[in-house]
Amino acid sequence: MSHSALRFTVQAGGSLTGRIRVPGDKSISHRSIMLGSLAEGTTQVSGFLQGEDCLCTLQAFRNMGVHIEGPSANGEVTIHGVGLHGLKKPTVDLDMGNSGTSMRLMSGLMSGQAFDVTMTGDSSLSKRPMKRVTVPLAQMGAKIVATEAGTPPLHVQGGQKLKGIHYDMPMASAQVKSSLLLAGLYAQGETSVTEPAPTRDHTERMLRGFGYEVIVEGNTIRLQGGGKLMACTIDVPSDISSSAFFLVGASIAPGSDLIIEHVGINPTRTGVIDILRLMGANLELLNQREVGGEPVADIRVRYAPLKGIRIPEALVPLAIDEFPVLFVAAACAEGETILTGAEELRVKESDRIQVMADGLIACGIDARPTPDGIIIQGGKIGGATVTSHNDHRIAMSFSIAGLRASETIYIDDCATVNTSFPGFVQLASGAGLQITAG
Ligand code: S3P
Repeated sequence: MSHSALRFTVQAGGSLTGRIRVPGDKSISHRSIMLGSLAEGTTQVSGFLQGEDCLCTLQAFRNMGVHIEGPSANGEVTIHGVGLHGLKKPTVDLDMGNSGTSMRLMSGLMSGQAFDVTMTGDSSLSKRPMKRVTVPLAQMGAKIVATEAGTPPLHVQGGQKLKGIHYDMPMASAQVKSSLLLAGLYAQGETSVTEPAPTRDHTERMLRGFGYEVIVEGNTIRLQGGGKLMACTIDVPSDISSSAFFLVGASIAPGSDLIIEHVGINPTRTGVIDILRLMGANLELLNQREVGGEPVADIRVRYAPLKGIRIPEALVPLAIDEFPVLFVAAACAEGETILTGAEELRVKESDRIQVMADGLIACGIDARPTPDGIIIQGGKIGGATVTSHNDHRIAMSFSIAGLRASETIYIDDCATVNTSFPGFVQLASGAGLQITAG
């Protein structure tokens, strides 16, 4: 997918009010297509995220012969599952676009197929590290060829007999965990992974929803190969990572009072709530309920003065996608915010430590990157022109900074916002952000 230049222009000031619903959860949407395709029977998905990343996953399964209806305008998708062994060899390379989740989870799944596949990505994905999955998958018997640097494209050679392994993960990564568990569906015997810290557990929850036994003991997750997935119904909650822009926006903009509806609050994803509360934010979880195996709530957020904090390292994997916008919260807080233990941010869609530091400095904020984090002094945000480096979360984070800026902020290269948050500009301007795209 090409990402042509798109500039966001954000007028200074404003507040966020009303009730909004942000699009569906990206992690859950990807997994719904993968497991629904490999299940026996018809899986019905609602609330599917129609962002480019998840559409890449959907197209990949269509290219492997799965009949998928939708998504309809309101996110209904019907997947006619083909069973674990029913995929067909695609006649084209599988294009994973900007999506690390697709590439890494599919590496595990493709390792268990009878046919060869090549997976490609855009210029950002083509720079991202894949050895973290190809190395343990090779221990299971997979044959995957990457570039010498360990980056895409990945050529997966099918017809391999996989065997279960135990893997002690060197980094806290749900993508690595999920890749191995998905390969484990095709492996002989037991596959188990131990994570150094808890990471999002959507794969484990959804496998169980499809009737597959997954055993969790402390930080170790295990499953046996050779079972079956049985079709089910999936209601995708709104993405807490997309909500995070509004949690921060309403917290920093005086006069704000916003309700964000139907947000997934899986405890492996709520680090952003904990961190904002430690900074003094006023967040209320209303109407807590469970939807299809995932906890959900409406979140009310009102303006509150924030203070700088030292972010507890245990919260880092639980807020990994929310740091760009949390850095904006830190820039608006009184005092110093210190993040450590977050070197993973350097290998996301961009180097999120450096790119955010550069943008904040351009806005007049004292932001000092460190190898594994950043130190930010709260201050006054001025007008600036920043580049998102084609990273969706950087583009949206600087848009939110406009709420507290003294002058207009211009953000370049914003087209990738569509990978995770189609409709961001309309939704944000409806809530009070003075943003235009063009
Ligand atoms: C994801 C896991 C996270 C996250 C990404 C989605 C997933 O990556 O950053 O946006 O759906 O499993 P890591 O597990 O590599 O940290």
